[in-house]
Amino acid sequence: MPCVIEFTGGDRGPWRVTRAEATTGARLEEVAFVSVGLVSESEDPGHLASSDMAWRLRGAISNLRYTTRDEANRLRSLQAALDRPTATHAALIPIKKSQQWWDLAQDERREIFEETSKHTTIGMNYLPAIARRLHHSRDLREPFDFLTWFEFAPEHEADFETLLSNLRATREWTFVEREVDIRLTRD
Ligand code: HEM
Repeated sequence: MPCVIEFTGGDRGPWRVTRAEATTGARLEEVAFVSVGLVSESEDPGHLASSDMAWRLRGAISNLRYTTRDEANRLRSLQAALDRPTATHAALIPIKKSQQWWDLAQDERREIFEETSKHTTIGMNYLPAIARRLHHSRDLREPFDFLTWFEFAPEHEADFETLLSNLRATREWTFVEREVDIRLTRD
């Protein structure tokens, strides 16, 4: 069983929502707090019905799809771990891509993702300030294909906005049919 992470939105949790908007497509129900946790194999489904929970999104930590060996080595040498004490700001950005994207072959997707859109090249400019983790949801029959999670210190918030506007201007993003941008802080 892959490592599955769940994000729950509700009335309680370590991360307080400061802003939430639907960048593309339908929004998510407004919540005050978000929690992040590991889904255990022996989970009692009863706890899902908790009344202080408005939504729950799940995603698996999976293998790389569009990363060359050289890119993987550079990412590993640059990236920071999650949960740094200085990283009091976070973003949860669930994303769904169109059927047109999923109908493409692997080599066509890589071509759009990196050779055309320079996703990894752009993103690497923001390491190690922005720590990240990608979760795959599509195969779990979730409403989004990906749950993207980022953590950073307050002084890097402006950099994060620039990173987002650079990525959203790429050809890759023309395949995004739903994107919700949730910003969070913790003490
Ligand atoms: C995938 C790097 C920021 C959304 C990836 C992958 C890499 C990467 C290497 C490919 C993983 C694979 O091989 O399967 C980075 C870096 C960033 C960054 C270094 C800098 C912080 C972002 C941001 C967003 C984002 C800000 C969204 C708002 C995604 C999505 C995928 C992805 C949705 C999955 C694409 C797909 O499989 O179709 N990222 N990224 N990334 N990233 Fe980023």
